[in-house]
Amino acid sequence: MSTSEIIKQRRSIRNYTGEPLRKEHADQILNYIAGLKSPFEGKARIELVHTHTGTEPVKLGTYGVISGASDFLVLVYEESDMGEENAAYLFENVILFCTELGLGTCWISGTFKKSDFAKQVNLQPNEFLKIVSPVGYINDKKRFVETLMGSDRNHKSRKPFKENFYDGYFDKHLTEENAGIFRDPLEMVRLAPSASNKQTWRVILNNGMLHFYHHESIAMFDFSKFDLGIALCHFDLTCKELRIAGKFEVLAKIKKISIRKDKYSVTWIKSTPRPY
Ligand SMILES: Cc1cc2nc3c(=O)[nH]c(=O)nc-3n(C[C@H](O)[C@H](O)[C@H](O)COP(=O)(O)O)c2cc1C
Repeated sequence: MSTSEIIKQRRSIRNYTGEPLRKEHADQILNYIAGLKSPFEGKARIELVHTHTGTEPVKLGTYGVISGASDFLVLVYEESDMGEENAAYLFENVILFCTELGLGTCWISGTFKKSDFAKQVNLQPNEFLKIVSPVGYINDKKRFVETLMGSDRNHKSRKPFKENFYDGYFDKHLTEENAGIFRDPLEMVRLAPSASNKQTWRVILNNGMLHFYHHESIAMFDFSKFDLGIALCHFDLTCKELRIAGKFEVLAKIKKISIRKDKYSVTWIKSTPRPY
């Protein structure tokens, strides 16, 4: 399956069959995690934890938001400049890998009992745990009901292409036509999941450079840096698949300027082909 097909297929799954992850799936996920790399600086680890380890069932509370999940991915990271974007970039890679395996996942930020998970991953004082995701077999019967009831409507509702993408600067919206070779990578950004479906990423295209921002929220819990990390993952994987070469760099000149609540994070710079 191509990256864009996997991105289009992924959606938040909140109902599972209860069947524990089969060994072959758990092994594939752990192998994938072991080989993960990120273009950003930051320290993060992703753990796979189970409710059925040993003789006693392990309690991993999600306050009723998730039903029937036996296994969870847990994101643990250390604070740094791009610590959250980096952690989210890595986590979304794993989410997409699980989607390709046919497994369900759902980014969960608020509604889980942190102490249950902290214990299972042996959380250290310098580490943060804000995100988990169930991973497992999708309960298709319940999904059918969810679809009928419209409770997965967020999945389909995304802002139009030009709303969060800009041409040259924040005063001009970017059309799909003017996005050129970046149309598909940006379309994959548009489809990214985000906390409460807020879609807080902002991207300015200027001269083969794409400046990535996140729109900070005034809410007590702001997940905009995680949302941006997911968007960066979709953008990077799609560029790689389409063989659009470039690299990420933090440009100090831009970092100094803060625009309203739009906080600069990083720039993607297109490589110029070398002359023969
Ligand atoms: C950082 C982050 C935090 C999220 N937290 C929760 C959560 O606590 N509970 C929940 O049910 N969904 C949560 N979600 C899932 C979003 O609601 C979902 O991604 C969004 O509505 C789009 O729907 P989709 O994932 O089906 O495309 C979170 C997503 C992200 C990216």
